[in-house]
Amino acid sequence: MSDELKVEGLVTGYGKQEIVHGISISAKPGHITCVFGPNGSGKSTVIKAIAGLLPAWAGTITLGETELTGLPVHDMVRKGIVMMPQGGGVFPRFTVMENLRMGGYSLNDANKVEERVEALIADYPNLQKRRNVPAGSLSGGEQMMVAIARALVPDPTFVMLDEPSAGLSPALVNETMDRVQALRERGVGVIMVEQNIREALPVADSVYVFAGGNRKFAGSRDDIKGDDHLMSIYMGGD
Ligand SMILES: Nc1ncnc2c1ncn2[C@@H]1O[C@H](COP(=O)(O)OP(=O)(O)OP(=O)(O)O)[C@@H](O)[C@H]1O
Ligand SMILES: [Mg+2]
Repeated sequence: MSDELKVEGLVTGYGKQEIVHGISISAKPGHITCVFGPNGSGKSTVIKAIAGLLPAWAGTITLGETELTGLPVHDMVRKGIVMMPQGGGVFPRFTVMENLRMGGYSLNDANKVEERVEALIADYPNLQKRRNVPAGSLSGGEQMMVAIARALVPDPTFVMLDEPSAGLSPALVNETMDRVQALRERGVGVIMVEQNIREALPVADSVYVFAGGNRKFAGSRDDIKGDDHLMSIYMGGD
């Protein structure tokens, strides 16, 4: 039985400003967990805290029986938990290959990293063709693909994707959702923050809605579809 990732009572913020006021979420391997909510509701803040980029002021993060609260990013990566930041975070002056290799920085085995990078890029023909060009010369959509592929280099158990479809053409949004589903089929747990609810909801196994740094909803896709009030307030009315 694979381990569940559990966040309980997370409180965090920036400086002295508390932004997230005790949020609990859990995610399973082989499952797509979607986080929705208005701008500024704390979605990115929560996943940054899970990734080890922000300290938990209160609450716990556990993987199965193992407590991970307070581990730095590279240790979280070694535990199998990786984040793709909002906007992708691709380094424009570095080549596609260099960007992908950075995804393996916390692994100590250069050959293994090279093997993973080659296996991943083989899956993206557009990137393969342009592997040695600066990532900044790619389209926004292609850069997002670099960012997603880079997050997969460490072969994560859980990958957190912060708005992977932002700024993509409709065709690329579909491709992204297909890739997310392919990850689920391989047993990877996906935690996906999305604005693009129309495209993301159909692939979600479970859904959270945040507002104002609090959790407003937790349930299945069907639960939320049946909740007219939530749908109209947070999901754009359909
Ligand atoms: N680095 C930061 N320093 C200070 N405040 C921040 C920082 N990042 C975010 N915030 C604040 O924290 C709150 C929550 O931001 P967060 O980025 O988590 O929202 P979000 O739900 O991801 O929104 P969006 O949909 O716009 O990405 C906002 O009020 C934001 O202004
Ligand atoms: Mg955000």
